[in-house]
Parts: sequence; structure tokens; C-alpha cells
Amino acid sequence: MREKELLIVTGATGGLGKAISMYFASLAVEDRTLYPILCCRNKDKADDLREYVEPLGLSRSDYEIFLTDLSSTTSVNELALRIKSLHMPIRVLVNNAGSMFGSYQTNAEGIEMSMAVNFYSSARLTEMLTVDMAPEGSIINVVSLVRKYTDIDSDFLKGYPNSYTRINHYAKSKLALSIFTAHMAERYPNLYINAVDPGVMNTKMLKMDRWYDRLADYLFRPFTLQPYQSLGAVMAACENTDGVSGCVFTKSKYFPMENKIKNHPLKHLILATICNSVELVTY
Ligand SMILES: NC(=O)c1ccc[n+]([C@@H]2O[C@H](COP(=O)([O-])OP(=O)(O)OC[C@H]3O[C@@H](n4cnc5c(N)ncnc54)[C@H](OP(=O)(O)O)[C@@H]3O)[C@@H](O)[C@H]2O)c1
Repeated sequence: MREKELLIVTGATGGLGKAISMYFASLAVEDRTLYPILCCRNKDKADDLREYVEPLGLSRSDYEIFLTDLSSTTSVNELALRIKSLHMPIRVLVNNAGSMFGSYQTNAEGIEMSMAVNFYSSARLTEMLTVDMAPEGSIINVVSLVRKYTDIDSDFLKGYPNSYTRINHYAKSKLALSIFTAHMAERYPNLYINAVDPGVMNTKMLKMDRWYDRLADYLFRPFTLQPYQSLGAVMAACENTDGVSGCVFTKSKYFPMENKIKNHPLKHLILATICNSVELVTY
């Protein structure tokens, strides 16, 4: 019998995350050598997630739910160590968790919160787990179209309190993650490292907690995608039938990461920021 391999997703209780969790559950039911690790931060939502994945045919011993707060570097380190302690190669890691923040906030290390959750934790988890990847395993980072409409400079981690808006800092975090994805794909030619751009989905992320939410419910939401529609992009990246790396998958096609992002002048700084801090962790 083949050794078990992990299918890992972060943000497992969110709109797209729940769809990915159910996809992983169905893969694991088909192939008992696959073992899903569903990462989320909220215990009640985790219990709710069980109601979705177990009816597909998984029992409690066929998968794990790991609680983790991706705004905390300590929590990311603990998650990585917990995954490593399973001693199972990783077939797929999907860095899906994401968030937007209404005001400028920083985490314990002084990293702006959207950068901490959307970029830093995903990049850190990826860097810590690359040695545990199965041969030709896949790392998939969920980015956004907004990556194309912003830029970052060397202050990107701490952000810009004086010009803060939730969308501009969210966009910067997704740009940083995209640059990291392209650079990692060059660095690890034996793995498949790609991004997914899921399109605009009708999920909690689109709620701004402002008066215009009601207006958006009528004028905007009906034209957005349901998460199960965007799941196609994640499935295509997991199946990766052409064996590509450094690409962006959408629900209808894939293409190489934009040159402006691939050759971004900060790409070495971004990688060094992650690698240097990971080197300080003792496994
Ligand atoms: N919705 C869109 O239109 C859109 C467009 C482009 C890209 N995306 C990206 O798609 C991905 C999935 O988003 P979604 O639309 O499915 O949004 P969502 O429903 O809000 O899901 C986001 C997930 O991330 C988790 N999360 C947030 N902060 C976290 C933290 N500090 N620690 C651990 N987990 C955390 C959330 O946990 P809780 O369940 O506990 O809140 C949730 O499970 C994100 O990366 C997002 O940026 C979304």
C-alpha cells in the first residue's frame, strides 16, 4: 500500500475554503491514501465543517481539522510543526485563507494585518513545508485580480497607515503573494507552484460592514460567482494536467504569471524576508 499523502487547505471554513474542503473530502473517499488537513481558526465553524465533509464518506480518522490563527507567526509555526509531525508527504497545499481589514492594524511583529494573513502566513507556511512536499506535489496560492492594479515598495510589510484603505492593502498583500508564487516556482522546479485567481465570489469577504452593503446586495452580488463555480480553478490547478508551474489558474484557463509580477524588483527582498525568519525556527 502507498504511503498516505496530505491535502492541506487553509481558510477551510470560508466560502471557497468549504468548497475546497468538500473537494478534498471526495478525493480522499475515492483514494484512501489521501489525508485532508482542514485548517481554520474558529472551533464552532470547524464543528460545522464536519457536517459538510463527513456525509461525503469520511470518518473522524480519515482527516484532521487543525485550528490556527494565521495573523500570528507563532500560530503559523505551530501549524507547520504539527503538519510535519504527521510524517506524511504533502500532495497539495492550498493557501486559501484571506481577509480584509476596515482599519490599519498590525500583528505582534508589527506586520500590517492584511499583509500578515494574506501574504506572510501563506509564504511562511509554504517555505516551512517545502521540504515535506511529495515529489511533484502542488502548492497553490489563492490570489486576486487586484494584484495587477497596485505596487509595493520596501515598506510593504508594515504598510501605510496614512493612506490606508482596506482594498489597497488587500491588493498589496495579494501582489506580494503573487510575486512570491512566481519566485518559488523558479526556485523549486521539482514542484508545481501556481496561483489561483478565483474571480469575484459571493462570500463573507465581500461584506464591507458599511451602509452600502444593502445596495451591493441588489446591484452587485447577483452578478458574482458562487464559490463552487470558482472551485473549478482550484481543481484545475490541483489536477494540473499540463504540469505547469508559475502560472495563474482561473475557472476557464491558465496563463503564466504576468511578467511585471514575475520580474518585480522586490522579488529577492520578499523571499529573503520569509527565508531569513524561517531559518530562526528550530524544528
Ligand atoms: N470573495 C472574492 O470575491 C475573492 C476574490 C478574489 C480572491 N479571493 C480570495 O479567495 C480566498 C477565499 O476567500 P473567500 O471569498 O472564500 O472569503 P471568506 O469566505 O471570507 O473566507 C476566508 C477564510 O479565511 C479565513 N481566515 C481569515 N483570517 C484568518 C486568520 N487570521 N487565521 C485563519 N484563517 C483566517 C476565514 O476564517 P473564518 O471562517 O473564521 O472567518 C475564512 O475561512 C481568499 O484568499 C480571498 O482573498 C476572494
